[in-house]
Amino acid sequence: MASAVSNSSRIYENVTELVGRTPLLKIEGHDVPGVEIWAKLEAYNPGRSVKDRPALRMIQEGIRNGKLRDKTILDATSGNTGIAYAWIGAALGYKVALAIPANVSDERKRILKSFNAEVHYSSEMDGSDGAILLARELYKKNPEKYFVPDQYNNPENPRAHALTTAEEIMEHMKDKITHFAATIGTSGTLMGTGKRIKELKPSVRVVALEPSQPFHGLEGLKHMASSIVPGIYNPKAYDQNIPIDTDEAYEWVKKLAQREGVLGGLSSGGAMAGCVQLAKQIKGGCIVTVFPDSGDKYLSTRVWE
Ligand SMILES: Cc1ncc(COP(=O)(O)O)c(C=O)c1O
Repeated sequence: MASAVSNSSRIYENVTELVGRTPLLKIEGHDVPGVEIWAKLEAYNPGRSVKDRPALRMIQEGIRNGKLRDKTILDATSGNTGIAYAWIGAALGYKVALAIPANVSDERKRILKSFNAEVHYSSEMDGSDGAILLARELYKKNPEKYFVPDQYNNPENPRAHALTTAEEIMEHMKDKITHFAATIGTSGTLMGTGKRIKELKPSVRVVALEPSQPFHGLEGLKHMASSIVPGIYNPKAYDQNIPIDTDEAYEWVKKLAQREGVLGGLSSGGAMAGCVQLAKQIKGGCIVTVFPDSGDKYLSTRVWE
């Protein structure tokens, strides 16, 4: 039974205060008896993705330690972190320059432009690693100009998740949760959230959901064996790895929309495909996962053709 619409509202003095405190939703349509699956809906952040959390923390840390003063924020990003830097830069008064693969969806490119970010495109053949190399080149040419948060190697990325994502999950799920499962890109979500959840409840099993092949079409995710491995990634920090099949992920994007009324991004479909595999392996339990973004940015991609 749906609850009544609340008539209370909150007030804020800066849009950055809206980051975090995203909803946790029970996903019903998976047909695995005895297992609950709950998803944290990160599309409810102001930049519409999970990456608002680490981007804000890395920028705030740069402001706090003085490294960002009078500089342009520069990083390599497959899209969502770039969107996060772009809107946070606009809100806090910093310029933003981004290196991204040329084949990211058109919606993303337009969103970045709308926040006035300067965009540099790397070859679509080189994936997210090409963007990393291009950002390094830009920095080398002009090191005085840039502040590089370096999301792949910055411990503030997982720390943002330890301090916010994990605490928010455990506030509601501490008694129930048996597994935490998350997709991996930089791996910040899995590393930070998983670590803190285990500190609060050591029995929880932490599961990495990783694309099963190098060319997977799941924007934002990394197949570690064929990628530049992020410095923050530690395979010892999780208990199990489940490979995600791209077709299954795309199927789940559609099922989530059509069975649950949740328009998730491609990696949300991937998260769900991985959680259902996990649910079938365990006899009973409660899996908590993260739906990293919403589906609006992928409406022109092949999943909806
Ligand atoms: C859509 C999407 N899903 C998942 C991820 C992976 O998150 P993380 O970088 O925390 O591993 C990202 C990262 O950019 C993303 O953009």
